[in-house]
Amino acid sequence: MPPTLPTEILPLTAQRAPDGRLLIGGCALEVLAAEYGTPLYLYDQATLDEAVTTYQVALAAHWPGVAEVAYAAKAWLSTALAQWATARGLGMDVVSEGELRHALHAGFPAARIHAHGNNKPDTFLRACVTEGVGRVVIDHPREAERLADMAAEQGTRPAVWLRLNPATAAQTHASIETGSATSKFGLSLQDGSAWQVAQRLIGHEWLDWRGVHFHIGSQFSDTRALREAIHRLCHWLGEVRATLGWAAAEFSPGGGWAVPYRPGDPHLPPAVAILELAATLQAALERHTLPWPALILEPGREVVARAGVALYSVGALKEAGGLRYAFLDGGLADNPRPALYDARYHALLANRESGELPIAYALAGPFCESGDVLIREVALPPLREGDLIAIPVSGAYQLSMASTYNGTPRPAVLWLHQGRAHLVQHRESLAALWERDELLPSL
Ligand code: LLP
Repeated sequence: MPPTLPTEILPLTAQRAPDGRLLIGGCALEVLAAEYGTPLYLYDQATLDEAVTTYQVALAAHWPGVAEVAYAAKAWLSTALAQWATARGLGMDVVSEGELRHALHAGFPAARIHAHGNNKPDTFLRACVTEGVGRVVIDHPREAERLADMAAEQGTRPAVWLRLNPATAAQTHASIETGSATSKFGLSLQDGSAWQVAQRLIGHEWLDWRGVHFHIGSQFSDTRALREAIHRLCHWLGEVRATLGWAAAEFSPGGGWAVPYRPGDPHLPPAVAILELAATLQAALERHTLPWPALILEPGREVVARAGVALYSVGALKEAGGLRYAFLDGGLADNPRPALYDARYHALLANRESGELPIAYALAGPFCESGDVLIREVALPPLREGDLIAIPVSGAYQLSMASTYNGTPRPAVLWLHQGRAHLVQHRESLAALWERDELLPSL
C-alpha cells in the first residue's frame, strides 16, 4: 500500500494523481521539474490565501478593536509575494532598506509598512522618513534621537513604536529567541532605558509615539512566555499612563508562532494563539485600566511556510558505513536551516508512488561540508537516480536565507494557482556569481 499523504504539512491543494505523481495547485511536480529544472521552489496561492483568512477570521472573532496582520517579509520576500500581500490588505514588517525598497518596487503601500531593526543604518532610517513608512520601530535610545534629527531636517513627524524587551524568552532554539534580558533587541523595561525614551517621546515635536511592540522569538508553541510578556508590558504601560499620561493606541506582540515541519510536530495555530492572546491582553488592559489599542500581529512563517515546497532531484545513491544516502541537487545553500537550527523536515517521493516497503535514507546535498544534510533520517520507498523529492514546509526562511555557496545559483520559484504555474523568480544566472566583481588594475 502506498503511504497516505501527510496533508497537515502539505499545501492545501496537494494530492496524488491516479498515476502516483504529486500535484500541487493542480500542477504535476514532475512536469514542472522537467520544464524549470531542480532545485525548484513552489508556492501554492490557495494555501497562502487560507493562512490570511484564518488570521482574519480569528481576529474578527476574538479581538473587538481594530486589528491588522503585518507579514514579516524576512520569511520570504519577492515582488509577487508583495503584490499578493498588497491585494490581500496585509501590512508588512521590513528590517532593511533592501526589504523596504523591494516592497515599494512591487507597489506595496509605504503607509502599511513598519520598519524594524536593532541597528538600522542612517540610510534605512532616512528612507523610512522620505518614503513615508507607516511606523518606525525604535529599538535603542540613540535611534530615537537620530530619527528625530532626520524628521526635523525633512519637516515630517514619523509615527513610531517602541520595541520593548520584556525579559521573558520564548522556548525555542537559542538563535531565534529574542525576548530575554540579554537579547540585543529592544529597550529594557527593567533597567530604565524604555522609561527614559518614553519620557523623551511624550509630546515630542518630531516623533509621533503611537504604540509598543515586542517579539520574544520564533517557532515557539508554548504560550507562557507570550502571556507573561503581555502582562509585563501592560504593567509598564499602566505606569506610563499614570505617570506620563500616555496610552498606547497600537500594540504589536510580534510573530513567532510555531508551524509543524513533520507530521505530529508542535503547532501553535493562529486561531488558538489569537484566542489566548486576546484574552490575556484584555485581562491585562482591564487590570491596569488601559484603553483598547489596535492589535498588530506580525506573522512570517505561519503565512508562507506551509504554502512552500522545495523540489530536488536524486543524483546518486550511496551507502557509507551502514548509512544509506540519497544525494540531492540542493541543500545547505538553498536551505541552511538544518545546519543552523537543527531543523527537521519530512520528505516525499514526488514523481511516482510505490507500494514497496520504505527504507531509511539520509538526504544530503552536493555542498562541500558534512553538515550539508537536509534530513538525517527519513523513510522513503527504495529510490532511483532521477527520482524527485519534495520537502514540505519550505516556504519560510529558506529562500530568504539562501546563499550562492560553492558557486551555486539560487533556485527558481514558481507560483502555483488553479492549474497554472507562473515563474516569479528566475533561477539565478551563473554570470550573477561574478557580475559584481572587478579586475585588479595590475598584478
Ligand atoms: N517580528 C519580528 C520582530 C521578528 O524578528 C520576526 C522574526 C517575526 C516578526 C516573524 O517571526 P515568525 O512568525 O516568522 O516566526 N531564520 C529563522 C527565523 C528567524 C526569525 C527572525 N524574526 C528560521 O529559519 O527559523
